[in-house]
Amino acid sequence: MIERTYGATGVRVAVLGFGGARLPETPTGRGRFDYEKSVPVVRRAIDLGVNYLDSAQAYGAGTSEVVYGKAIKGYDRSKLFLTTKIPVDSMLQSRASRWRSRLDISLRRFDTPYIDFVFMHGLTWKAFIEQASRPGRALSEMRKAQQEGLIRHVCFSSHDTPANIIQLINTGEFAGVLMQYNCLDIANREAIQRAHDKQMGVAIMGPLAAGMFVKADPVELPHWTGETLPSRPELALNFVLNNTAISVALSGMSSIEQVDQNVAVVEQYGTMGAAASAHWREFYARQQAAADHYCTYCHQCLPCPQQVDIAENFRYMNWQRLWALDAPAKAAYAKLTGKTNWEPWGKIDGKSAAACNDCGECEPRCPLNIPIMTQLKEVRPTLAEATV
Ligand SMILES: NC(=O)c1ccc[n+]([C@@H]2O[C@H](COP(=O)([O-])OP(=O)(O)OC[C@H]3O[C@@H](n4cnc5c(N)ncnc54)[C@H](OP(=O)(O)O)[C@@H]3O)[C@@H](O)[C@H]2O)c1
Ligand code: SF4
Ligand code: SF4
Repeated sequence: MIERTYGATGVRVAVLGFGGARLPETPTGRGRFDYEKSVPVVRRAIDLGVNYLDSAQAYGAGTSEVVYGKAIKGYDRSKLFLTTKIPVDSMLQSRASRWRSRLDISLRRFDTPYIDFVFMHGLTWKAFIEQASRPGRALSEMRKAQQEGLIRHVCFSSHDTPANIIQLINTGEFAGVLMQYNCLDIANREAIQRAHDKQMGVAIMGPLAAGMFVKADPVELPHWTGETLPSRPELALNFVLNNTAISVALSGMSSIEQVDQNVAVVEQYGTMGAAASAHWREFYARQQAAADHYCTYCHQCLPCPQQVDIAENFRYMNWQRLWALDAPAKAAYAKLTGKTNWEPWGKIDGKSAAACNDCGECEPRCPLNIPIMTQLKEVRPTLAEATV
């Protein structure tokens, strides 16, 4: 398995990491992971070279940590990197004593004397400044636990805006960061580069767009000119690995077949001939350039008096035009009804292109000078009409 260095820690991580949020669940419906089914999936990944195991206290109602604890028994602990995430986003959760008792729970669940990477879970700039970084709170307790040898590295995961993620990176407090990036969502590109420049490890969540990209019907891609259409996991994982600022892509794998397929894709990365490589590079560059041209989802054009979620309308248009994700794009567009929805790629708040009344307020605010009104008119017939 190809390895990369995780920032200044010097730790060598396999580029495919195990995302611990999607393991097979028990039939109880309470979201707990089934140990008998999950442990062999993780062990298969370890046998094939995966050494970075991502979890969180919240995944599987606490059971992802137990799965890893069971799975690593019998392997050389020093060659595996266990991670977990602990929330710090309220006054209570960022309290030092609370954080420490949470850490004790994780250590017990993993059944290990130390955890390699511990993250502030879903950190926002606001929570960091107002709570976690204040004296006697989570950050200082993390440093203490580090000195005691209970945790190796202090990191954060975030779904905050790219600008706020960059502010968190700039604090210089963290050895690594986990954020989203995939061929459908490149908004964190700059933050990834910034973290790399600051010698931080960069882990990526959602490399397969939470599975959405790989589950789409196999149709010809609009700009693909190669002889054989690559598989969707191949396209998605290669896209992420092409960004050399990324240390590890975490895929949430729920079966041995998925592990085998994703490992095989990663094993082949970098082995293709010069002509094929040049073709792929050109293909990705074209997709990226086209995505940039349409919209980077920065939301600077808001607020819209009609509550049109401009960026989301363009996002689904990009899915359809650039990646031939016709059905997912139409399904997502139909959800633009003005009601708040949480989707794997973020929060949807506003309405579809149908609600635009051409007032023109948004266009001067777009840094890319996108002709928003004209493009919204293209969205409607392409993705069909939705309820306003
Ligand atoms: N995405 C997020 O918002 C988020 C947030 C916080 C943390 N994380 C962390 O980052 C990890 C990775 O994110 P993610 O789970 O969204 O990653 P992902 O790899 O983009 O998506 C995982 C989904 O893809 C499907 N999948 C994986 N390999 C496949 C293959 N070869 N063929 C077909 N389907 C395949 C699985 O679907 P099925 O299992 O349904 O078959 C799985 O649910 C998480 O597990 C978690 O540890 C993610
Ligand atoms: S032109 Fe349309 S999208 Fe832009 S602010 Fe006005 S109503 Fe909203
Ligand atoms: S300001 Fe421009 S680039 Fe940013 S979300 Fe709006 S349309 Fe997209």
